[in-house]
Order: sequence, then C-alpha cells, then structure tokens
Amino acid sequence: MPGKKIDIFDTTLRDGEQVPGCKLNTKEKIELAIALEDLGVDIIEAGFPVSSPGDFNSVREITKVIKKATVAGLSRAVQKDIEVAADALKYAVRPRIHTGIGTSDFHIKSKFNSNREDILKRAIQCVKWAKNFVDDVEFYAEDAGRTDNDYLARVVEAVIAAGATVVNIPDTTGYCLPHQYGEKIAYLVNNVPNIDKATISCHCHNDLGLATANSIAGVIAGAGQIECTINGLGERAGNTSLEEVVMVMKQHHSLGLYTNIKTEKLNPMSRLVSDTMRMPVQPNKAIVGSNAFAHSSGIHQDGFLKDSQTYEIITPEEVGADGSKIVLTARSGRSALAHRFQKLGYQYTRNDVDVLYQEFLQVADRKKEVEDDDLHEMAKQYKQHTVEV
Ligand code: KIV
Ligand code: ZN
Repeated sequence: MPGKKIDIFDTTLRDGEQVPGCKLNTKEKIELAIALEDLGVDIIEAGFPVSSPGDFNSVREITKVIKKATVAGLSRAVQKDIEVAADALKYAVRPRIHTGIGTSDFHIKSKFNSNREDILKRAIQCVKWAKNFVDDVEFYAEDAGRTDNDYLARVVEAVIAAGATVVNIPDTTGYCLPHQYGEKIAYLVNNVPNIDKATISCHCHNDLGLATANSIAGVIAGAGQIECTINGLGERAGNTSLEEVVMVMKQHHSLGLYTNIKTEKLNPMSRLVSDTMRMPVQPNKAIVGSNAFAHSSGIHQDGFLKDSQTYEIITPEEVGADGSKIVLTARSGRSALAHRFQKLGYQYTRNDVDVLYQEFLQVADRKKEVEDDDLHEMAKQYKQHTVEV
C-alpha cells in the first residue's frame, strides 16, 4: 500500500457512548468492540474506567477478547483515575492509557482556577504516572483547538519528554476552521523539537460541521492518527465520523494516506452501532445514510442510468451498502420510469412510456414516492385502455 498509514482510533465506545440515550451495557460493548476490531480499527477506546463500576467492568471484559487492536482507557490527569484505568487494562495485549488535561485559557482559568505553569506540571506528572503502568501513553491537551500555539508546543514537548507516545490535539469545541486546525498541527510539527518521538492525533468535534474536514487537514499537515466514531456519534454535535475520514483518504489517492479499514464492512458496522445504541442514522448521512446511494431527480437518474459514475464517486459495494436506488418521485424523469417498468418485466416502447409518464406524474404528485404496486396498477389500466381502443 503506497503512502503513509494513518491509525484509526475509534472512540464510539467512549465519546460516542456519552451521547444521551446511547449508553451500552458490557455485553453490547463487547459485541461492538469485536466488530470494530474486525473492521480493522487500530485502537479501540473502550471507556472511562473511573467513571463507573459498569464502565470499568466493560473495559476489563473488552481487553479479554481483543487481541489485535490496542485497547485504550480514558483518565483525567488524576493519579486515582490513572491507577483505575491501568487496573481495567491489565489483561490487554496492547494497553494504552489516554490521559490529559485542559490547556486553553478557558480551561486553565475557569475550570481549574490555575495558571499555565501549574497545568504544564500536571500534564508532565500524569504522563509520568501513567508510564509506571503501561508503555503506551497518549496525552490529550483538551481544548487544544483554542489553546495558544506557543503554549501548546511547550506542553507537547514536555509530555513527549515525559514518555507520551501519542499527543492528542483535540478541537474539543469544534471551533477551528480546517486551515486553522491544519496550521496548528503544522506548527507542532515545525516547533516541537522531539515531535518525531510521538504520533500526533486529531480528535475533532463537529459543532460547526467541520470535524471531518479538520481531521483531514490535520493528517495532511502531519498527524498520524485520527480519533473518530461510527456514524459520527459523540458529545453534542458528535465527533469525526470514521466512515467519512476513511473514505476521504481512500478516494483521494493524491493525499498519499491510507488506513487498514475494511471499507466493505462500513455499512454493516454503522447499522450494528445504530441498532445497538438505538440511535437512527440521518438518511442523508455520507457513506452510511439510507439515501447515500439514492437518486431521485430526473436529471440525475438519467445520467446515473447511462453511467453510474456520472453521479456516484463511490460504489455501494465498496462500503457494503445495499446498492444504488432509483427512487420514483414527482421529480423523476422518463428514463427512470422506463428503467423501472423494464425491471418489473414490462416491454414498453418510447410512446408507451410517454403516455404512462403523464399518469405517473398524477400519482407522484399525490404520493411522496411511487411504489412498484402503483406501477403494476398503471400497467394494468394502460393495458385495458389500449385493448379497448
Ligand atoms: O473532546 C475532547 O477533548 C475529549 C478528550 C477527553 C480527548 O474527548
Ligand atoms: Zn471528545
């Protein structure tokens, strides 16, 4: 595979599970973790062990069944959190402690009533503490999106010196524009002397609908890991959607970036998460929405029927979707109607279709979507009418 491998860190079971109504029990979390490993994710963030005994147990049980992927547990920059995370991860083949602290002035002043120097010390201490338990320690600089770049670079340099293997640069509030987030990552690449000793990770939220664009800007600028969730689930407006970033990198070869995700499993994975979390996917969601491969307007249907690539940049098979759909509505044209009649076994001439199309429009104006049964009925009426004539 040419180019640079980007690690996929899935946080559906942690940031995704924080969505109101999406809470999972241990059995459900294990089922999803197995499916995520099967999908090819590199890191599964299994939970936040100190948050509840149930979540501790879920992380512990997940580590017993996951053999290839790294299993991460979240913690704050608090000794007890880190110890509990280490305990939950003790059976993991590849354990990672994900610890960190807020670094923006909003967090430093309002949340911690502290100052930059103290936060820097706490950042170093938490990484050093986590290193007592595992080799693989990821540090997150919460609200890095709104953190001053000079200070962020100092924090990143210090935590790498303390042993962090991955430095997570979250745009926690989804505030950054893609070029700003990309510049932030480039700033770290160019100004942190020991940056080659760690992987930079992008963790973007979707408050302005820019999470996917920001994560892609981040990897273009030199990050090596993207944190994301299935169906873009996550706090508030959600996280970067796994299926979107993976397909952006797959479609745009010129980026020279690839992942190990088995893309044909994306739609089944999306359905599994949606069913298990009882959280429907919006129909127009990229890659996994029910309309992602549906063509409804006459102009599009005509072009698609002549050559699918006219209106599809991804094939449904490539992402495990059911297939392309031609939906018959009042906006559909004659070619789509003729195509559907043909599929239903009717052999009509152009003139027949012209006549039937007028009747079709009457039905379509009354209904949201014209179904096969409506077409059979039209065909029956048409036959009677032509026989009588
Ligand atoms: O959005 C965020 O900053 C987070 C961190 C805990 C990684 O989820
Ligand atoms: Zn987050």
